[in-house]
Parts: sequence; C-alpha cells; structure tokens
Amino acid sequence: MPVIEFTGVEKAFVDHRAVHDLTFGIEEGELVSVVGVTGCGKSTTFNLILGLFPPSEGTVRVAGHDPYAEFDWFRRRVAVVFQDARLLPWRTALQNVCIGMRFAGIPKDQWQDRARDWLARLGLAGRENAYPHQLSGGQRQRVSLARAFSVDPEIILCDESFSALDEITAQGLRREFVDLVREGGKTGVVITHSLAEALTLGSRILVLRPPGHLADDIAVPSDPDPAALEALRARVLAGMTPEGGAE
Ligand SMILES: Nc1ncnc2c1ncn2[C@@H]1O[C@H](COP(=O)(O)OP(=O)(O)OP(=O)(O)O)[C@@H](O)[C@H]1O
Ligand SMILES: [Mg+2]
Repeated sequence: MPVIEFTGVEKAFVDHRAVHDLTFGIEEGELVSVVGVTGCGKSTTFNLILGLFPPSEGTVRVAGHDPYAEFDWFRRRVAVVFQDARLLPWRTALQNVCIGMRFAGIPKDQWQDRARDWLARLGLAGRENAYPHQLSGGQRQRVSLARAFSVDPEIILCDESFSALDEITAQGLRREFVDLVREGGKTGVVITHSLAEALTLGSRILVLRPPGHLADDIAVPSDPDPAALEALRARVLAGMTPEGGAE
C-alpha cells in the first residue's frame, strides 16, 4: 500500500481550481521529485499531505490515515522544509531545532541531545548557540533540516528547500539530504523548479500541469548516460508544458 495516496483529488479555492483529478501513489522509502510550472498546484498538494485543509473531492491518505481529519496523529510523522529556513530570529540554532520537537510532542528531556546530534550531523557542531542572523543562508537551511529530521518523521517534504542556495551549496546539501533520507529509511518528496535537481535527486519524477493534474510519472534510472538524461529532460519539459506531454 502506498504511504501517500491521492485518489481523484480536487482542491478549489473559492472558484479557482488548484488541483484537478490528481491521482498518484508514493511507496514507503521512495524519494520522489515533483516538478511543474509556477501555480500548477505543487504546494497545494503538499498542504493536502500535511492536512492543512481537506480536498474538495476525492481522498488523500497518508499511511492509511486522513491527514486533515487526524491532524494530531500526523504531527510527528510528517515534517516539512521550506525554501526559506523559517527560523525564529530570537532563538539560537539549538533552540530552533528544539521548537520542532516541542510541536511534535517529543518528551522535553530528549530535546537537547537530539538537537545537538542533528546539528552535528548537518555540519553545525560548535554553532549551536549562533542566532540565525549569525549563520549563512546554507547554514540556516541546515538548521531547518536538523529541525525536520530531529522529529524522526516517516515522511519529509521539501518545498523548494535548496533553490535559494548557490548551485554548489545546493548540490552538497541535496546529497546529504538524500543520504539522510535513505539511511533513515524515510520517504522523501521534494518540490523543485530545477530539472537538474529532479533528475539527480529522486528515483521518480511526478510532473504536474496546471491545474494540478498529473501529466507524467517518470522512473529515473540510477545512473543514466548523457543520452538517457537528455531524453528524460525532454520528457519532463514536455509534461510541464500545457500543449505537449506524455499524457
Ligand atoms: N489559499 C489559497 N487561496 C486561493 N488560491 C490559492 C490558495 N493557495 C493556492 N492558490 C492558488 O492555487 C494555484 C496553485 O498554487 P500552488 O501554491 O499550489 O502552486 P505551486 O505549484 O506551488 O506554485 P509555485 O511554483 O509558484 O510555488 C495558484 O493559482 C494559486 O494562486
Ligand atoms: Mg509552491
């Protein structure tokens, strides 16, 4: 059974359709990229997985549960990392990581050790007491990843988490992210605007087309040769373009 399952999902805001007849499944342990032009419904899809609102029609199931109706059940099972690190400026790196565990309902006596451990794993040992303004953008994003992983969620969602970083920093952090997801046996779903990121990050690419419709579902081979990469790139672009695609 897929750990994330959308069946005929519709999501309308007033009279605007953000997601239309969306059906897909993501298996446990998969690392999947989601691509599509701006406004095609990617973040709305994430918000449905997070249970921030219910679908207008259809069903969303995460680990067999309804994320909207059972919001509390999901608190420590699904974590999200955004494009900006979303840290509290008046809290240190360590305190910012602890806040995630507090909201997830992790016992307080575990916060410090877990936060230190995850900050160290993400290369921030010795910077625990730094405030966000004393850290670089890449380091702030590392704190944000530590906050997500420290909750030990089953599913990690990244909404453009690496796109505000330069390509070298993004590549490094992406690689670390993939290793952490795989080591932890977690399921990862990553929204990205970068085709290169989609092609290198996951084992599958879901291509959305406005309004929030699945245009293509592409398996990415583990070590594609240049010709295969070029073909994949063309296929993803065709899927994103309203007129074309492999629908
Ligand atoms: N709360 C809301 N109220 C009204 N309309 C919304 C709301 N959230 C999203 N929308 C609309 O739904 C559509 C899909 O938005 P969404 O944020 O999911 O797109 P996206 O694919 O994440 O885009 P981007 O790549 O720019 O982040 C857009 O047209 C957006 O304006
Ligand atoms: Mg978005």
